Amino acid sequence: MLLKSLLPAAAAVQMAAAQELMRFGCSQLTIDRIDPLVEPGNLPSAHMHQIIGGNSLNASMAPVDHDPPTVSTCTSCTYSEDFSNYWTANLYFRARNGTYKRVPQFANLGLGVQAGMTVYYIRGYSPSATVKAFPAGFRMLVGDPMNRAAATMQKGLCYRCEANMEQNPFGGAPCTGQDTQAFPKQACGGGWRVSVHFPTCWDGKNLDSPDHKSHVAYPASGTFESGGACPSTHPVRMPQIMYEIMFDTRAFNNKAEWPADGSQPFVWSMNDTTGFGLHGDYLFGWKGDALQRAMDGKCSGDRCAPLQRQTDQAAIDCVKSQSVKEDIGDQWLTGLPGW
Ligand SMILES: *[C@@H]1O[C@H](CO)[C@@H](O)[C@H](O)[C@H]1NC(C)=O
Ligand SMILES: *[C@@H]1O[C@H](CO)[C@@H](O)[C@H](O)[C@H]1NC(C)=O
Ligand SMILES: *[C@@H]1O[C@H](CO)[C@@H](O)[C@H](O)[C@H]1NC(C)=O
Repeated sequence: MLLKSLLPAAAAVQMAAAQELMRFGCSQLTIDRIDPLVEPGNLPSAHMHQIIGGNSLNASMAPVDHDPPTVSTCTSCTYSEDFSNYWTANLYFRARNGTYKRVPQFANLGLGVQAGMTVYYIRGYSPSATVKAFPAGFRMLVGDPMNRAAATMQKGLCYRCEANMEQNPFGGAPCTGQDTQAFPKQACGGGWRVSVHFPTCWDGKNLDSPDHKSHVAYPASGTFESGGACPSTHPVRMPQIMYEIMFDTRAFNNKAEWPADGSQPFVWSMNDTTGFGLHGDYLFGWKGDALQRAMDGKCSGDRCAPLQRQTDQAAIDCVKSQSVKEDIGDQWLTGLPGW
């Protein structure tokens, strides 16, 4: 770990590639107040999201009936057979005078997309293991937008305060070292890296569950990273999905604009000032058996022979207009959208 923590980001990415880790960029598809997983059909949903992936995204995407690869005409992800949708809350800065501005996102190191997120599908660390791709209609949620305490936060959700835009020092694997469950308390010269890991074991039957979580689980002992086995209730081993969202907080580092008591000024779109409400939503939408081919082919990085890749520009060009027309906060807002 010591060695890894001293490695610059590019080397760490290479090391990760040796562990069969797909890592690819997806540009922003839209920023919209919809939530097809937790609040299907609600226009608007309770809070604002930033969303990437297939442009068949809409407020109500019934499992199986709404088939993203069939209904989409483009995707904002560079792997062009991936019409899945991925989303998280948006981040806002609350100035001392009580007005809000959206914190922009930026592409991760080495990726040519715009804003959006970096998506990982990690096959795992035991080469002989069978890893099953998600079935059509599968979806899941990690984290809880209502959570406001560290103790009740799901695992694998964290923040890294980057010292500079080169992400140097790299700081080791996500959610280790200096990474925090709470929002960073200090001004960060290179913005934030927000990591969201999903559970990796499936019950093998249900595409979803009432809380969008019970059909998936964590390894029974050990961790995904240590090759821990899935529990008997959720025996099917899936790839580990991870999102990285890079937020450019640099325009908001002037302490004179921070709360007078010195507390941190950032807030998630569900009015969470703690950071413990971090959550991510996943709605599977790979075409045919493309994801299974990627797993069987031990794909790494954002170029892999069994998969088709479009240009970064084609991914950037795939955008979707808002279903709920409202100001997303690129100018000062008097309140958070919906609050
Ligand atoms: C969402 O897409 C489906 C097609 O799968 C369509 O039938 C439905 O009308 C759309 N809903 C909205 C709210 O646009
Ligand atoms: C609130 O503070 C921001 C940041 O300094 C400033 O740009 C904006 O004009 C202020 N708004 C009002 C209404 O004072
Ligand atoms: C938003 O959160 C802040 C800080 O926790 C709280 O003071 C405020 O009342 C909340 N706003 C609403 C509309 O609930």
